[in-house]
Amino acid sequence: MPTISVTTNDGVARVTLARPDVRNAFNADVIRELRDAFTQLNDHHLIRAVVLAGEGKSFCGGADINWMRGALDLSYEANVIDAEAMSDMFRAIDRCKKPVIARIHGAALGGGAGLTAVCDIAIASDETIFGFTEVKLGIIPAVISPFVLSKIGATHARALFLTGERFSALRAMQIGLVHEVVGYDMLDSAVDRVLGELRTAGPLATAAAKELIVQVAASSYDDTRSLTAEAIALRRASDEGQEGLRAFLERRPAEFAK
Ligand code: COA
Repeated sequence: MPTISVTTNDGVARVTLARPDVRNAFNADVIRELRDAFTQLNDHHLIRAVVLAGEGKSFCGGADINWMRGALDLSYEANVIDAEAMSDMFRAIDRCKKPVIARIHGAALGGGAGLTAVCDIAIASDETIFGFTEVKLGIIPAVISPFVLSKIGATHARALFLTGERFSALRAMQIGLVHEVVGYDMLDSAVDRVLGELRTAGPLATAAAKELIVQVAASSYDDTRSLTAEAIALRRASDEGQEGLRAFLERRPAEFAK
């Protein structure tokens, strides 16, 4: 039985966590399937965007606590390999060449909050409970920390990683983990609105913008001076860039805008 479902329609891939009975907690199977799905979507030329969601009552209750208890039967080395596989899964989503929208409801705890952090645009319903709850279980949010820190920064990580307290969607938005909070009834239309924005953006430009953020964040200003100049020079001269600029001047929609 697959633990996620992947459907594609009209240029949008929908990746849905499909273990609602355990609030979409992830184990080794989910980790492998998510990593593979997001890696494969990179090469899917007709896909303009990906929506990550959870089936049932909650987006994701984090790592499967039963699965983690199995760590007792594993050697230290095997535990490290398990954790590295989890890291690869988060990275595959984080670095997916397509824009990734998170559709969040119910709960996003532990690794579920980590999944929120690796999506480009996170939209949550107002009843969602967030939390980096690992310390409540005597563990730490280690694997997700690089992705979460790059979204919320050290100040909020210090307050939330250390207490493990649960917090509201509003606070998630205030700290930059989430970008939009809406009533549950409006969740799908909020996702559709962002998909509409992405449909009118050049798909290659969108991918290049995502890559730009990664490179600039990892560079000093001296390095970014030439990096950013080269990046915009390439986009300006590209077919897509030329078409977008021409379309604006000719007051018509660009060919890539559906
Ligand atoms: N791992 C394993 N099982 C989990 C789970 C997880 N992370 N999160 C939820 N489940 C299971 C519950 O054990 C329960 O199983 P049961 O039906 O066999 O009793 C089932 O999912 C439903 O959970 P329940 O708590 O009854 O649902 P809820 O909708 O009231 O609450 C949560 C959902 C996610 C808020 C709650 O289950 C929770 O707090 N889970 C722990 C989350 C956590 O600490 N994650 C951090 C992991 S590092």
